[in-house]
Amino acid sequence: MSNIRAAITGIHAYAPEYVLSNAELEKMVDTNDEWIVSRTGIKERRILKDPALAASDLGVEAVKGLLEKTGTSPEEIEVVICATVTPDMMFPDTANLIAFKTGMKNAFTFDLSAACSGFLFALNTGAKYIESGTYKKVLIVGADKMSAIVDYTDRSTCILFGDGAGAVLLEPSKDGETGIMDAVLKSDGVGAVNLYQRAGGSLNPATHATVDAKEHYITQNGRPVFKAAVSGMAGVVKEVMKRNNLSADDVAWVTPHQANLRIIESVASMADFPMDKVMVNIHKYGNTTAATIPLCLWEWENQLKKGDNVILTAFGGGYTWGAILVKWAY
Ligand code: COA
Repeated sequence: MSNIRAAITGIHAYAPEYVLSNAELEKMVDTNDEWIVSRTGIKERRILKDPALAASDLGVEAVKGLLEKTGTSPEEIEVVICATVTPDMMFPDTANLIAFKTGMKNAFTFDLSAACSGFLFALNTGAKYIESGTYKKVLIVGADKMSAIVDYTDRSTCILFGDGAGAVLLEPSKDGETGIMDAVLKSDGVGAVNLYQRAGGSLNPATHATVDAKEHYITQNGRPVFKAAVSGMAGVVKEVMKRNNLSADDVAWVTPHQANLRIIESVASMADFPMDKVMVNIHKYGNTTAATIPLCLWEWENQLKKGDNVILTAFGGGYTWGAILVKWAY
């Protein structure tokens, strides 16, 4: 095994300007602010209103900010991986579009599909490119325009999701001691029946009938997803801590996927973390799928210190889930 470690050396994120509040949703479906806040913790979410803009444009905003902040020129980037369930199109890949729009002329690109766990799976994949010694600058993007696949007449799902993007730069760790330390990633197709977008793929290509039946929107059976998310994330957080001999006191922050505040609180309690160590911004953004974790890291960047143990954890459609232990590098 190589002794090169991959480190996150920069982070940036972007959420579109338009705020879709619970009050506005009350006018669209039979719901109310009290129900949404008490069941999910969400007060508002951001929506990309311009129909000419897509997931790649959200990603571009995050990437541009990241390159500027880290003093990296677009030509230096060698690999771009974009985690998304709302690619601009089925193909070409959204990472390719992001690279083209930002002038990353020397990078090879691909998308990674693992729903709400996409950012973690992409981060682990990118880390392997660095650890192999083959590449030195890898960009991981999580970008989702969930408003494109949300049915705004379905009160059980339209309250949950928002649009956003985040990006991190991966480079070889300078000290070899900070960076991506460990990952526990899992998949189980048993969850496919509870969370999916039925049409638009090769099983049910888009037809008038699939559109009339609204099959290009998200379908979710919320209760089983909720339960699986709690046990799944709590399990992998505990596993990664055990494997690395860490107690809750040794961990500075937990960065959970933001799907539901009650899920986050249950995971924290099962893994023995006080909520003041848990990053939460779901009230502002809702569930932005592949963007939730980088949106959190970005907002907490100033509070993170070199050497902090941070556990990232996510759960999503598939099911897919996982936890990554990061020793913060800067
Ligand atoms: N406003 C008001 N009432 C609503 C509502 C809304 N927006 N959405 C659903 N309801 C109603 C239901 O119709 C149901 O009414 P009934 O009892 O008369 O049939 C009642 O509220 C309870 O519905 P239920 O679906 O059992 O609620 P819940 O407590 O499970 O909360 C979710 C629903 C979706 C918030 C919750 O299941 C959840 O968060 N699941 C996980 C979702 C998730 O994390 N997905 C992404 C994974 S990455």
